[in-house]
Amino acid sequence: MSIVIAIDGPAGSGKGTVANILSEKLGLVYIDTGAMYRCVALASLRENCALEDQEKIIEIANRIQIEFDEERRTFLDGEDVSGLIRTKEVSQIVSPISSIVAVREILVKKQQDIAHGKNVIMEGRDITTVVLPDANYKFYLDADVDERAKRRFLQNQESGIEMSLEEIKENIMKRDYNDMHKEVGSLMRTDDQVYIDTTHLTIDEVVEKMLEVIKEK
Ligand code: DC
Repeated sequence: MSIVIAIDGPAGSGKGTVANILSEKLGLVYIDTGAMYRCVALASLRENCALEDQEKIIEIANRIQIEFDEERRTFLDGEDVSGLIRTKEVSQIVSPISSIVAVREILVKKQQDIAHGKNVIMEGRDITTVVLPDANYKFYLDADVDERAKRRFLQNQESGIEMSLEEIKENIMKRDYNDMHKEVGSLMRTDDQVYIDTTHLTIDEVVEKMLEVIKEK
């Protein structure tokens, strides 16, 4: 039987970091679905495509090749864009782009194809509800918005991305609202997810809690 772990949660809730660690500990393929929406956003920026031009954005989502390698780098049409998809410009437009229903359909299908028949850990906003509703383990990670902004600020500093704490907090709050009010694929809490508030927990503590749930089942 394959192991399928689905994690949802808002930006900065720690899902990427813990999914990465768990994928190594459990030998799972890690899929960062936010990176895929970010690739569509980056490609749209490069083609000077306005946010209003949904037809073009859908055409781009259909056309581009998105791949991950074993070192968890993200490739857009063969180019390593792992850093470029985290810039301020991409972060500002990715949530509205991810609200386009047809873009979601295209990416959900790609995500399901990547996961098919594999032992995976996948994280995003609609993984437990839409992409992998039959996952063996479902988690919702959360944290206070100030803590999430602080984490993202530190991550950005490490990667050399210039954004003030205030700017990050504002961007996160806008995305939270947008991500929770989508026509399709909204971020939501459900009864079958294990909810973990990571505000006052270390990364190791979150990983430990998740491993306990996984071992229990
Ligand atoms: O996880 P992230 O912050 O890199 O995600 C970037 C954006 O992509 C986020 O604002 C919402 C969107 N997203 C989505 O709509 N569905 C997903 N499964 C993953 C991300």
